[in-house]
Amino acid sequence: MDFSNKMELKFLSKSQNESFARTVVAAFAAQLDPTIEEIADIKTAVSEAVTNCIIHGYENKIDYITLKADIEGNKLSIEVIDNGVGIEDVNKAMEPLFTTKPDEDRSGMGFTVMQTFMDELKVESTPGKGTTVKMVKYINSHK
Ligand SMILES: Nc1ncnc2c1ncn2[C@@H]1O[C@H](COP(=O)(O)OP(=O)(O)OP(=O)(O)O)[C@@H](O)[C@H]1O
Ligand SMILES: [Mg+2]
Repeated sequence: MDFSNKMELKFLSKSQNESFARTVVAAFAAQLDPTIEEIADIKTAVSEAVTNCIIHGYENKIDYITLKADIEGNKLSIEVIDNGVGIEDVNKAMEPLFTTKPDEDRSGMGFTVMQTFMDELKVESTPGKGTTVKMVKYINSHK
């Protein structure tokens, strides 16, 4: 069997699309026969990334978020892309507990959660242009 595949999807930055996006990725990843735990990890990470696009990238304005997923062997790569405000200092933003919205009940743990539940996390951002979050998870790597 050929274990390479790709998908790409655009959807609006509405909060109801958080669950849509994580369900899509879970459905796409299903062909790798992940464990329940691996699926839960992927869904959690995608939710955090999409939430960030909605509340930080687009600051609750409505615009398109792009979701890409790529399978190569047992490697699942995911990209969550917005064309929003971007991040001034990515390293700082990725520190645990760092948030620019403490008044909105944000705990600054989204990137830490993505890092914890995925095997690789890369954030590319240009202020004024937008942000791309790249995540990798190796599925069934215990087998
Ligand atoms: N897509 C994005 N566009 C612009 N800024 C972002 C984006 N994603 C994250 N950030 C910035 O990085 C900071 C840290 O993000 P992170 O997800 O770790 O925490 P948070 O969203 O503030 O809080 P939490 O995720 O715990 O609710 C955010 O406060 C925001 O300033
Ligand atoms: Mg967040």
